[in-house]
Amino acid sequence: MIVYFNEQFMDKEKVCISPDDRGFLFADGLYEVIRSYKGSLFRAKEHLNRLSYGAVHLKLGRTDFSELEEIAGELIVRNGLESKDATIYFQVTRGAAKRSHAFPHPLPSPTIYAVASIFDPGPAGKKREKGIHIITIADTRWARCDLKTTALTPNILANQVAVENGAQEAIFIRDGVMLEGTHSNFMAVFDNVLVTAPLSNYILGGITRKFIFELCARENISVEERPIFEKDIHMATEMMIVGTTTEVTSIVRMNDIIFRDGRPGPVARALQEAYTSEIKIIKNLHANK
Ligand code: PDD
Repeated sequence: MIVYFNEQFMDKEKVCISPDDRGFLFADGLYEVIRSYKGSLFRAKEHLNRLSYGAVHLKLGRTDFSELEEIAGELIVRNGLESKDATIYFQVTRGAAKRSHAFPHPLPSPTIYAVASIFDPGPAGKKREKGIHIITIADTRWARCDLKTTALTPNILANQVAVENGAQEAIFIRDGVMLEGTHSNFMAVFDNVLVTAPLSNYILGGITRKFIFELCARENISVEERPIFEKDIHMATEMMIVGTTTEVTSIVRMNDIIFRDGRPGPVARALQEAYTSEIKIIKNLHANK
């Protein structure tokens, strides 16, 4: 497998990351996951803009990562993934330097790693058609969930609780509000309106979330960005998660409550169809290039 590491393409086995790397020592870094549909990158610029946003807030000393789009394309070709569905994972850390909490002086160059892999839908993705089971869990994350940092311990622990309970995703609750999943945004339908948490420091501004808003405009589905209180969720007619790897996945069970007789609802199904047709167009455009 050919990966990208600090300005070079190389065999994955040849990558040598310093034990002083602040990504390893402090999880002092950012990541992105971009989908590639038959060689065509989906919304790469938006993902890389989010990486820049994170880099500004983490004061990484470098904010322009636009070259990673071309690098992603090169990784797809070098790994023979042009006709497949794939994900490209990027990680940028503050670099390697003697361990100290404050930024090292002088600032090291950020460590940049990128890898393209054949897409594995994961447990939630595999259940996309049938709908998934979620649990709710207290949000123990920090107050900058808008930054896609690699410090994912609370997300990992929460997702593990989900798995141990036979669920595919855990939805974080803070102050009674259902915010988002461990690796997805959360949406629910109330009175035919698709509702999701407003952008804030408590959720990640999902690229898929924004894409879903565009699909809703086309499909005449009304959208409202407002807090969803857990105490009101029994009034929802549908729930779903959205994200790069989960696309639109309906929720059919929350904790011990089976929802909608365990069947995905019409809004989720309409959005899945709209999503799939848009991806088909992207794949065809790319194939005819
Ligand atoms: N996760 N919220 C969280 C906490 C996430 O980690 C993600 C994505 C999302 C959805 O964002 P987007 O639509 O831009 O993928 C929301 C990625 C896929 C991951 O951790 O693998």
